[in-house]
Parts: sequence; C-alpha cells; structure tokens
Amino acid sequence: MIWHIHPSPAGTSRALLEWILQIADGTAGPVNIALSGGSTPARMFGLWTEAYRERTPWERIRFFWVDERCVPPDDPQSNYGMTKRNLLDFVPIPPGRIFRIRGEDDPDSEAHRYAKTAESLLPLSKGYPVFDFVLLGIGDDGHTASIFPGQETLLVTRETYSVGIHPTSGQRRVTLTGQPLLLASHLAFLATGPAKAKVLATLQAGPASGPAAYVAHHALHPAEIFIDNEAASLLAERPDADI
Ligand code: 6PG
Repeated sequence: MIWHIHPSPAGTSRALLEWILQIADGTAGPVNIALSGGSTPARMFGLWTEAYRERTPWERIRFFWVDERCVPPDDPQSNYGMTKRNLLDFVPIPPGRIFRIRGEDDPDSEAHRYAKTAESLLPLSKGYPVFDFVLLGIGDDGHTASIFPGQETLLVTRETYSVGIHPTSGQRRVTLTGQPLLLASHLAFLATGPAKAKVLATLQAGPASGPAAYVAHHALHPAEIFIDNEAASLLAERPDADI
C-alpha cells in the first residue's frame, strides 16, 4: 500500500485528481475509470468540475461504476445521480462514454448485463475486465464497493459484478466483485475525516479486518490510499506521507 496523507479533505481530493490525470496524460487510448458512490467522492467531483475540467482529456475518459444502489437514477441515493449532479452535468464527457449501472432494473439481471458490458469494452485478465482506475471508498464497518462484512464470498466469486445487500437497510446493490477490484491497473481509496480513522487503522494492521482491508492488501498493484490528517490520526506508524 502507498499512503498519501494531506492536511485537508480538499488537499487529499486534489492529490487524487493530480495522480489520476498525471497517469492519464502518460497513456494513449481510452481511460476506463470505475467510480464509487457515497459522500466522499461528491467533494472530489466538485473539485474536478471547478479546478480540473480543462485539464481532463474528456474525449478519452470512460466512466463506469464500482457499484450502484438498486434505485432509479433520479433517486437521491443513486450513485450515478450523485455523480451527475456533482460532475457529469458540468463536464464535456460524451454521453456515449458514460456507462451507468441501471439501478432501476432487476439486480441480478443488471449485474449480469453490466458485467458483459464491462467485459466487452475493457481488456481482460483471468476473464475479468481490467479497469485503468478503480476509485474506492471505505465504510466505517470496513466495507468497500458494496461488499459488506459477512458477504466476503463476493471477494472470490467468478462473477464480475454481483449483488450485495446493505446489512442494515437491506438495500440491494449491484457491485464489482473482489477479483476485478484486485486486478485494477491503478486502485485508489479516498477517505477523509475523523470517522475513517479507526477503520483505516485496522486496515493498516492487516488484510483480515474486512473487505476493504482484503482488497487493499491483496491488490495486484499496490493500493494507493489517499487520506487526510484526521483520517490518519490513529495509524500505528505514520507511513511516509505525500507531504
Ligand atoms: C456506496 C459506495 C461505498 C462508499 C463507502 C464510503 O455506494 O456507498 O460505493 O462503498 O464508498 O460507504 O462512503 P462515504 O464516502 O459516504 O463515507
């Protein structure tokens, strides 16, 4: 794991965007990015719109989703809807390069459809699609994507996308599964604020504390962990920080 620690959430988001764009600048062809939902990316998307709109090669970007709640796209809980409100409505990415998970459709059917979509558009490794970037968050319970504690079979399934179930709400979610997560060319976690400190400390300690830790420790390429000082406050030893 490679830790990037910055004083503020804004600085952390900025560092993540600079990292993505620097790598994208060095490649040719499509840049396949799988996005997560939740509140943390919303802030990063706002910065992307405000400060990096002109710098981004929108004609090469293809947006996919790591996961999606099984709700319509205009539902306040929709990850696509959140991304649209904070980013897509403000940047010149061609609609044909936005690959939405259809949260309004039957979850199992959509997981299968979306898996086929990703597998048809991306390079494959071991039969799984390889994203250029997978951007992940981490839940206080140690989940990532929509792979929750107790549903670790999703980490090793042969399916590319499957259906996770939120442990308290029971909400079903279409989610990228463990193996394609691990195969990402560039895997990044973004986590800021004091509420993430405990789960990041357990993640640092080893792979067994939950799905996020498993992914962070087993990724094919070193996972890049972008956090702020508050989220880093309980780390056992302060890793070499970005700053
Ligand atoms: C989702 C995300 C989920 C998220 C974490 C962290 O659909 O909610 O994929 O894995 O990344 O729950 O969410 P916050 O950024 O809101 O803390």
